[in-house]
Amino acid sequence: ILEIISRDMQMSPNRIRIIAPADLHQHFRQKNRTRLIAPLVAKRFWLGLAMPNLKPPITTTDAMNAHGKEVMEASGGKLRVLETLYLTDTLDPREVEKACKQENFAGIKYYPAGLTTNSDAGVTDPAALWTLGTRPFKCLQVLQDAGKVLLLHAADGIARKRVKIRTRLYKFGDELDSYDQEPHFVAHTLPEIMGCHNTLKISFEHMSTGEGAEFMEQHGKVGRLGCGLTPQHMLTDRRDTHRGGLRPHNFWFPAPQALEHRQEINRFARKGHPFCWLASDSAMHLKKDKESVCCSGGVITAHAGIELYAEAFEKIGALDKLEAFASINGPRFYGIKPATS
Ligand code: DOR
Ligand code: ZN
Repeated sequence: ILEIISRDMQMSPNRIRIIAPADLHQHFRQKNRTRLIAPLVAKRFWLGLAMPNLKPPITTTDAMNAHGKEVMEASGGKLRVLETLYLTDTLDPREVEKACKQENFAGIKYYPAGLTTNSDAGVTDPAALWTLGTRPFKCLQVLQDAGKVLLLHAADGIARKRVKIRTRLYKFGDELDSYDQEPHFVAHTLPEIMGCHNTLKISFEHMSTGEGAEFMEQHGKVGRLGCGLTPQHMLTDRRDTHRGGLRPHNFWFPAPQALEHRQEINRFARKGHPFCWLASDSAMHLKKDKESVCCSGGVITAHAGIELYAEAFEKIGALDKLEAFASINGPRFYGIKPATS
């Protein structure tokens, strides 16, 4: 049982109690950063799902297990760690088969090459995911057969055909506006993946747009398609990034969207769908990398990992939905028994 006092609640001595929450999207990093982050996570969450975008990226079961051990030890043995492999153009399906035999393996993380931090090794052409004969295709088949999860960084960099996204017309091959990357993925990539791998479990990470929320309203389904929300996307929007100048500490991927998209994802969160869960995307960066000519995307929220969500859910009048979101829905999707206290 975790007790939370959110910021507004400090005015009145209200407390809420929820069973122990789980964070299904954490960047634990490596070495001394892990030693800083893991205890923060373990103080609030009993379970943490580790992202594989390390240097070098995690593409073998051995590297994955070593990272899981590093995180677990850094947490003082308190945290249960779920792990992921990084999907590249050449990820070996036999490594996926090997990983699938392990309980600590949650699934594969898809990164579109170049669109976020440490994604240079990501997939260069998303069509590989539904093109017979490619390695990514085979890896997804193995994943599907094992009932493991494909975690999506749901963004495209390039228009794959002549399309209109929001107000813009793109030709085949055009570079997409950063605000259009997720809408393009939702309209042209996610349906292809789902159509091709029709029982694959898919998690739409850090959903940030109205288009994403609308797709999830229509297609979200327990055991098939779910999504994670971050506190940064629920609590802020691009005004906070641009107010009075460019604020690098309010910049992350997916890029902060306009207010109406923040409102859409909050409206979605309020409904308390059983296929929506806590997945913070807490991502630490050094100050010098944030305050630089090319600001790194990401923000650490692990120090207040549950408090920020309490604030977000309180703001939308949905504190009654917090427990299922934070403690039940995520573990269930990954086939793990939620905590009981
Ligand atoms: O803001 C982000 N930071 N989004 C990501 O997708 C990656 C992460 C990181 O690793 O820094
Ligand atoms: Zn992430």
